[in-house]
Amino acid sequence: MQVEIIDISHSGSGVGKVDGKVIFIPFTDIGEIVEVKNIKSNSKFDRGELEKVILSSKDRCEPFCPYFSKCGGCDFQFVSYERELEIKLQILKNELKKVNFFEKIEFFPSKNRFFYRNKIKLTYFNGKLGYHTLSNNFIEISNCPLADKEINDAIETLKKYLKEVKYQHLTSITFRKSDDKILITFLFKEKEKFVYSKSLDNFVVGIFIGKVLESDKTKLIETFNFCETYKTMLGTKIPLDFKSFFQVNDNVAEKLYQYILNNLKDKKVINAYSGQGALSLYLAKKCQKVVGIEVQKSSHLIAEKIKTSNMENINGLVEETLNSLLEKENFDAIVLDPAREGCQESVIEAIKKAKIKDVFYISCNFSTLIRDLKKLCENYIIENVKMFDMFPNTANMEVCVRLSLKK
Ligand SMILES: C[S@@+](CC[C@H](N)C(=O)[O-])C[C@H]1O[C@@H](n2cnc3c(N)ncnc32)[C@H](O)[C@@H]1O
Repeated sequence: MQVEIIDISHSGSGVGKVDGKVIFIPFTDIGEIVEVKNIKSNSKFDRGELEKVILSSKDRCEPFCPYFSKCGGCDFQFVSYERELEIKLQILKNELKKVNFFEKIEFFPSKNRFFYRNKIKLTYFNGKLGYHTLSNNFIEISNCPLADKEINDAIETLKKYLKEVKYQHLTSITFRKSDDKILITFLFKEKEKFVYSKSLDNFVVGIFIGKVLESDKTKLIETFNFCETYKTMLGTKIPLDFKSFFQVNDNVAEKLYQYILNNLKDKKVINAYSGQGALSLYLAKKCQKVVGIEVQKSSHLIAEKIKTSNMENINGLVEETLNSLLEKENFDAIVLDPAREGCQESVIEAIKKAKIKDVFYISCNFSTLIRDLKKLCENYIIENVKMFDMFPNTANMEVCVRLSLKK
């Protein structure tokens, strides 16, 4: 069946219409005419796979990666980076219409379109390393061109190691790059004897057991070659550990932090969902005072280690600590950078009640961002929106919305 692509969905798929019914076709661009196969239907829309491009967009190009369209990771390798940014801006504009924002959006591209990720997590399945695709199939990979080149070298070493040591309960391996080391986390679903090999000598190795690596329920069992290792951001060294959150694209994270600091000089600021304190530390250089709130213990401990005299850190849930903080002290601004779940209603209510003048909401998830903006917009107006291209080649993006209290 032939379909003309008339739009792009928020998840990056091309959108067409057949007999009035919407069909989503990944890896297609507006204006293209494509042949579609394997159509799956539900009552509201259809989903199809690209069989052949009949009329191509002028921006279509050869994907860089041999796994593109198979591994489920990238959405836009089939077009130029300029076109990818245009598409993302269009997706963002469409989303922001839901909160009546129609102004121009400034965007900050990534210096590198490839090899930018300082962290990736690979699945271990049937003795192989790879990704789980969206349809839950497994695909083995030898490299991932989104990951830093040193991470790619480490994948090669690990593949050889895993061939020799056949683990039964290993579920995933996470690679993180610090200034001078690669940290490798082995996650097992049940306890199993870990076999150390000389090939792991160049890495900082952590053995975990549990379910979700980022949760505090995951237990660290053993480490090898453990040493203090750091990540330098904007001239500041931040200790890096196996568990705490770090923005995945250093270049774009620096642009984001710089933008926030430029707007908050001399202010008293709350940095909610503050991770290991990299942004707090950076803000503390020019702000009057910064209070970070972070639930994860290991991240909080790093923030405590690096704090300056005008920086405080609260270890707890934002929804449980913000109200009492705001009852004790006045703040000029709050930065919100929650996980994909967004903010709890009580967080938004506490901000409104305290009448904080400026809110910077950083998000990589449209549905929770729009949900929370709708509530904030009862008392705030959206001043501007910036898009930071933290995740090139994918439909994900980091968005920073600046709101100010209505007069
Ligand atoms: C997207 S990260 C942002 C980290 C930080 N802003 C940065 O740039 O490195 C979200 C952080 O919020 C923490 N977090 C998630 N839910 C939370 C909650 N309800 N209260 C406090 N912290 C939370 C996570 O542990 C994580 O460190």
